[in-house]
Amino acid sequence: MSIRVSEGLFRLDTADTTYLFQKNAFAHLEHLHYGRKLPEGDVESLRQKHELTQGSAVLYDEKADPSYCLEEIPLEWSGVGKGDFRVSPAELKLPDGSFTCDFVLDSYRIEAGAPKMQTLPSAAGENAETLIVTLKDKAFSVYLDLYYSVYEAENVITRRAVLRNAEEQPVLIKKLMSYSIDLPDRKYSVATLSGGWISEANVIERPLLTGAIVNESTSFSQHRNNPALALIEHGATDDTGSVYGFNLVYGGNHQTTVELSPVGLVRVTGGINPYCFLWELKGGETFETPEAVLTYSAHGKNGMSQNFHAFVQKQIVRGDWQTKERPILINNWEANFFQFRQNSLLRLAKHGKRLGCELFVLDDGWFGARNTDTAGLGDYTVNRKKLPNGLDGLGARINGLGMRFGLWFEPENVNDDSDLYRAHPDWAIQRPNRTPSLGRHQKMLDLTKREVRDYLVENVTHILDSAPISYVKWDMNRKVSDFLDGAFLHRYELGYYEVLTRIFEPRPKILLEGCASGGSRFDLGHLCFAQQIWASDDTDPIERLKIQGGLSLFYPVSTMGAHVSMAPHQQTLRDTPLFTRFAVAAFGAFGLELDPLDLKPVERKVIKSLLEQYRSIRQTCQFGRFSRIETGDPHIVQWQAQTEKQTVVLRVRTLVPAARANDLLEIRGLDPEKTYTLRQVQSPLFVGAFGTLLKHILPVKLRSYSHLLLTADKYAKMDDYAEEYRASGAQLMSGVRLHRSFIGTGYSDKMHMQGDFGAMLFVVTED
Ligand code: GLA
Repeated sequence: MSIRVSEGLFRLDTADTTYLFQKNAFAHLEHLHYGRKLPEGDVESLRQKHELTQGSAVLYDEKADPSYCLEEIPLEWSGVGKGDFRVSPAELKLPDGSFTCDFVLDSYRIEAGAPKMQTLPSAAGENAETLIVTLKDKAFSVYLDLYYSVYEAENVITRRAVLRNAEEQPVLIKKLMSYSIDLPDRKYSVATLSGGWISEANVIERPLLTGAIVNESTSFSQHRNNPALALIEHGATDDTGSVYGFNLVYGGNHQTTVELSPVGLVRVTGGINPYCFLWELKGGETFETPEAVLTYSAHGKNGMSQNFHAFVQKQIVRGDWQTKERPILINNWEANFFQFRQNSLLRLAKHGKRLGCELFVLDDGWFGARNTDTAGLGDYTVNRKKLPNGLDGLGARINGLGMRFGLWFEPENVNDDSDLYRAHPDWAIQRPNRTPSLGRHQKMLDLTKREVRDYLVENVTHILDSAPISYVKWDMNRKVSDFLDGAFLHRYELGYYEVLTRIFEPRPKILLEGCASGGSRFDLGHLCFAQQIWASDDTDPIERLKIQGGLSLFYPVSTMGAHVSMAPHQQTLRDTPLFTRFAVAAFGAFGLELDPLDLKPVERKVIKSLLEQYRSIRQTCQFGRFSRIETGDPHIVQWQAQTEKQTVVLRVRTLVPAARANDLLEIRGLDPEKTYTLRQVQSPLFVGAFGTLLKHILPVKLRSYSHLLLTADKYAKMDDYAEEYRASGAQLMSGVRLHRSFIGTGYSDKMHMQGDFGAMLFVVTED
């Protein structure tokens, strides 16, 4: 049993953590502890002491207790107007027209599993236990149910709040968060994932000083700020120290506030962003807030990440692909944009298949008058000029090549220049009295309208059932504008979830990849439907180290779409080695996003061989225990993924220092006693990259632009030195001294010739 309640003490245990709170003399829920696992026993040492109060304190009930001031009590929930001046999880206008409210314990119950939510997606509840604590406002029959679902094995506790109005008059919800928790100050820093288009999920870590840090978005989960957040105790590292993680199973406008109050208490509260939010809750109605996911680890950021990864893989991601290795896909977007015909697609697919791809994805441009991004969005009738045999014809031919067939949609948006918009201008989100503001030349469809939702479901399912489509990329390429209010945006999100449920729940075999101009909608709400999400339109692997590395704080590798594209990269003009592009994408839901015929023949051979090898490490990379390894060098990024039998280590050097003699590769998590073989995956060296430096190897001097060299570069490659050792786990964990890198003093076939942006990939297997 992971939940126990006795004499007003509520105790929630996971494998490695304990969460404790207690009903106090005023029936408020006083928070005692969330963190490392505690044995049972007296909790007095955990209680906030408050014999004395500040001179300026507002006392809750002076007669009953002249030392009880809500401002100084760690609480599980707080209200407004009773002396707690911290950020409140709720702002409710009650039937007396006042925002003053005071929620006290009314009752509680415990249920097996996790009760399903009525309006929102939530974690699966497998092997969970749920505590539902009901609070009641002291003056009105307004109830708040606080849900705590305990996921013992995953070290996760989810929380959410449901407001029930048992009064006859309405309650106006201005703000209602999913949870609130008050922790003691441990000199935390706060890490969030922030960024923008093609630069998603950069980790921003800043110290928590007195005041509040607000992580929020005002247009769905958004590139700008991901809903996830970590609270890192002073001194914690990747592998040591206390780290708390918070996330939301919600893709709408979100807000998480971390506040260090002047008296030294830290409040974290998260949920729907109160931005422009006003929701009238009529008598007899209830309002559900999104489920929040909380975890704690005493093993640093990696510990927190591993808790989240296991939880997301088991309790959030669902469908037939939940635990399956993701197919190696080839997507035609960067290869074709809107310019293709059936034959060119088939050629792409055929070459992709030769390289080892398992799924062909037809991206934007297959329907209506969609030849640029200014027209046709909304009209999902196949463009017969481009695809004379329709989607079923193309799909059958792709299947005939031995590949699955996947298709792109952007169902939530519409171009003005489309038959759909011409027929239903009233379906678009716009204000009657204002000129609409477009994003990527398109308007959003109003998913709060039933007829729009019905149309989308019918339209998309009709196409899905008309051709052998086993993968869908569901895109969404704009932010919202011209909306009514925050409550409308929440209703939109509910409508969106309804549409996804109706389309994909009956079709669990379809692999769904979410996308929103890259990773603008990377959140747990979407992962309840999409098994993977396109992490970014930026396919430059050096940028991807930040993007995928940042996402890995909270999301497992199996959920991050990652592709090998052509270099120089469209997004940065950076020229990166093919092997690095492969190795970074290997830590993702892997794919190619290029025309194989744009590759040199020797590059095609290399990719074919790498994809063959990838199949033997894919399970480990996508589903293994993932860690970021601190190297102490800002120019070396190292990740590893581990299953019982195999460890895969990626090491990328973004900038090469001159003349270093000591390059140490540390591996984690091996059994010190066991013997392992470490093999480096052979990485190719293309002769063209070396120009006149070839004089170090060749007896003759070749001009870098000579015909001979250009021809050699097309067909021939050399191999970088590949390290190989057989050693104990203890030895490998204490560091492998790698062979030296080229420094211009000569050539040896036992040196590395990687240069800037070079990657090394090692596979360690137990003997
Ligand atoms: C967005 C996506 C891309 C691609 C294009 C198609 O930008 O992020 O991957 O699908 O749309 O228009």
